[in-house]
Amino acid sequence: MNLSSEFKQTIIGVHGDSGEAWLRELPYHIARCEQTYGLKIGDPYKLTYHYVAQASMENGEEAVVKIGLPNHKDLIAECIALKIMGSGNGMVKLIDDHLNQGLLILEKLNPGTMLSEVNSDETAVSIASSVMKKIWQPYAGDHDFPHLSDWMAGLRRVEQNIIAEKWIHKAEILFDDLINSSTNPILLHGDLHQDNILKKGKDWLAIDPKGVIGEAEYEVTSFSKNYLFDKKNPKDVLRKRLDLFEKELGLDRTRMIGWGFCQAVLSACWCLEDGAACFEENLHLAEMYDVMM
Ligand SMILES: Nc1ncnc2c1ncn2[C@@H]1O[C@H](COP(=O)(O)OP(=O)(O)O)[C@@H](O)[C@H]1O
Ligand SMILES: [Mg+2]
Repeated sequence: MNLSSEFKQTIIGVHGDSGEAWLRELPYHIARCEQTYGLKIGDPYKLTYHYVAQASMENGEEAVVKIGLPNHKDLIAECIALKIMGSGNGMVKLIDDHLNQGLLILEKLNPGTMLSEVNSDETAVSIASSVMKKIWQPYAGDHDFPHLSDWMAGLRRVEQNIIAEKWIHKAEILFDDLINSSTNPILLHGDLHQDNILKKGKDWLAIDPKGVIGEAEYEVTSFSKNYLFDKKNPKDVLRKRLDLFEKELGLDRTRMIGWGFCQAVLSACWCLEDGAACFEENLHLAEMYDVMM
């Protein structure tokens, strides 16, 4: 089985020894899933955190399988978020789940074009906004989804000195402020960027929800930061995106900026934790938000 070294590194970076064992077992595990669930599993997509591949089911219908570590908390949260958010026509359908095998079976989105392929940033923001409106909802169920406040601990998990203390400190204070003054927590996707919104016919649907409880203003941070530094003037693009989200969704601009800053510093910490090189870009983003405050 030909897995990229980047994918293997990510899996081992995130899951350590269990990730290494999972990678070793993966070809046999895929064969077992095919046999047990009557699937034919085809070519994988570009892989990051899970093994995601095209498949066909026993009845001949197309599907997509998403395979991760068995009973992993992130896959469980994703599975439950898919079920809840799936009621609003803005989320990919979950056909079946076997969490003890780490397996989700999803409807295949055709043509599956990513929102990142839409040229106009304005149109993309508008599409993302309409997806957000469809998937957001209050949550009163009994699954213990993480809350944004649980993520804050990530700011202190990394070795000090690599990220300047002033950024960590500022993010902690702001994070605390935002959490304490938050009035309307809902179930959020948690990672709704341009590559997690795919085209199905004429519609656009979200895939890959993390499932986290927090306020709506947090949700726009993932979109706002992606495909930003490849633009000629990232600062202007970021401002324009926030303007549009404010207009389309009626969100509070100051809180979007605050969350954007906290998310950037937190992402820088996560990058360091996962051994990824993305922390510098996230710190640059934090500086951009900082001047907007
Ligand atoms: N239901 C689907 N239909 C079509 N393509 C999909 C579907 N789900 C995932 N993909 C493709 O697989 C890729 C990885 O899936 P994703 O759920 O984002 O995995 P990860 O958790 O590893 O980020 C996506 O970027 C997309 O190209
Ligand atoms: Mg993804």
